[in-house]
Amino acid sequence: MARHLAAAAAAMMAIAGINGVQAQDYPARTVTVIVPFAAGGPADITGRIVADIFSRHLGQKFVVENVGGAGGTTGTIRAARAAPDGYTILSGHLGTNALAPAFYPNLGYDPLKDFEAIGLTAEYPELLVARKDFPANNLKEFIAYAKANPEKLNVGHAGLGSVSYIGCLLLHSAIGIKPTMIPFTGTAPVLNAMLSGQVDYECDPVLGTLSQIQAGNVKALAVAAKKRSPLLPDVPTSHEQGLPEFDIAPFYAVFVPAGTPQAIVDKLADALSKGLNEEAVQKRLADLGAESIEQGRRGPKALGEFVKSETARLMPILKAAAAK
Ligand code: MLT
Repeated sequence: MARHLAAAAAAMMAIAGINGVQAQDYPARTVTVIVPFAAGGPADITGRIVADIFSRHLGQKFVVENVGGAGGTTGTIRAARAAPDGYTILSGHLGTNALAPAFYPNLGYDPLKDFEAIGLTAEYPELLVARKDFPANNLKEFIAYAKANPEKLNVGHAGLGSVSYIGCLLLHSAIGIKPTMIPFTGTAPVLNAMLSGQVDYECDPVLGTLSQIQAGNVKALAVAAKKRSPLLPDVPTSHEQGLPEFDIAPFYAVFVPAGTPQAIVDKLADALSKGLNEEAVQKRLADLGAESIEQGRRGPKALGEFVKSETARLMPILKAAAAK
């Protein structure tokens, strides 16, 4: 018995020793940053900012891999099942890392148990954006048109449980409509479909459509927030237009598989925090429509608690919206 205990203790010390050495040398090779949506959309743009921060602060290549599908859950499952050694990390969001269980009874991962939080990267309010020639220019006209023509409406989204899906779910349940929802692997392909007139509208974090709105190729009908976006000062909010239930600013954040050595978690969290404090990074995020996040909300502990509180806050709202 004593011999077994001694052997087990020796094995644990050996593993701890290996982990210690691995953590000290980390990162010794290229790290994969899984972005669970298509290239070119909000998740991808944010994931690439994160990868660049890590590359510069940790002196190793961090390479984005886009693994789209099933509302971001395909890529998130891949990250959850990766070796917890710091060489596969996830740039996920409110949908993949908090609310996905509301939509998938057999999800294949538990956002709270299977991931370790590294840090909050950004929060962006969502917009209701329509194709250029859509016959409505504000929420009031949108509601009137949608109610009169429910069978004609096509909504693009990034899959069940994605934040674009969740945003429009809130919108639809507040108005009492059930249009045809068309899934894509991300909102970048939704935008392309909207530009070519195949899709009528979408609900997407501001950075997804900003440049096309500014170029006049699509139009924003509402900001799903209390405050207007300084980048789109002429676009009224959902609150101003009498639809406060349409209010969503999803978070984007970095996670690693549960069981990743604490020293690696600390290195990643420290690098992310340093990068997010850089003036150039803050400017880039602000230019993309991100709201500023005070430092105390960004680290692993704060993010872990935020994921739990957002899950508790939004699950009942979503379930009620889905039931309608
Ligand atoms: C994207 O990057 O495609 C979107 O942020 C995904 C989503 O709607 O959840």
